[in-house]
Amino acid sequence: MTRATAFLVALLAAAGASAEPESDRQAFVRYFEQRFPDVEVSAHVDGAYALNEQTREQWLAMEDFPPYEFSVDDGEVLFGASFKDGSGYQDCFGDGNVKQHFPYFDDDRQTVVTLEVAINDCRKASGEEPLAYDGEDIALLAAFIAFASRDSLIDIDVPPGGLAAYEAGKEYYYSRRGQLNFSCSHCHMQMSGMKLRAETLSASVGQVTHWPVYRFKWQEIGPLHRRFVECNEQVGAEGLDYQSETYRNLEYFLTYMSRGLPLNGPASRK
Ligand code: HEC
Repeated sequence: MTRATAFLVALLAAAGASAEPESDRQAFVRYFEQRFPDVEVSAHVDGAYALNEQTREQWLAMEDFPPYEFSVDDGEVLFGASFKDGSGYQDCFGDGNVKQHFPYFDDDRQTVVTLEVAINDCRKASGEEPLAYDGEDIALLAAFIAFASRDSLIDIDVPPGGLAAYEAGKEYYYSRRGQLNFSCSHCHMQMSGMKLRAETLSASVGQVTHWPVYRFKWQEIGPLHRRFVECNEQVGAEGLDYQSETYRNLEYFLTYMSRGLPLNGPASRK
């Protein structure tokens, strides 16, 4: 280690962050800067629409009447309702502008806490039943919180205790699986910007900024982990449970790769 890197490592350790995720992130961002020199890194928050002018036009026209608008409204009503003990989501999440801090690593529980897990923690602390992770209510609440957090910059870190979870997410991202024997990085790094059947493949940087997403294919708003399931199935691998430890670790890794990017959820996709 040179003296300069030793200094940097000490500095990051003092700040409670880990040097390795930060150098991973810089290399990840650099990869897409070199692959798409004409596209600002922050533009990738629009996914494939940052890379395909024609579909971008159609998408922008669609955004004039955003299909997730009612979900945000319904989510706001749920968010404002009181629990049986008189408390509510505001006691956990204030005005809802909190998404930039998720997911985070909880040292006590030794696990990654996503926004959805935190929503259920909030309920359980007040004696309410947790919501189903594949249900509508949690997606609506997440839609309102995403909307209330718009334009905030992703602000998570990986403390030393969270490194193993981060590494597990990173390993999952780069591992081949399914009959196609593809990793996430095959489609969303090496083939990003190219077409897979009718679809332009998005870059992984910026992929987590806009969830939940209203997809026309789903005819409803759904969470990031639903997309993970589809991408697993696309290569002939089995999808995992929403909020499984593996998916939470994957979300942790991907979100760290997008640290500093603006939140722009919810969004619409084909
Ligand atoms: C066989 C190629 C393929 C593989 C492998 C793949 N995906 Fe995808 N993924 C797609 C396609 C096609 C889409 C839809 C077009 C787009 O938005 O990129 C997509 C979309 C996504 C999106 C939504 C992007 C947005 O802007 O809404 C996310 C997030 C995502 N993939 C994550 C992953 C992760 C994580 C993995 C690994 C577990 C993975 N993908 C593996 C093909 C793939």
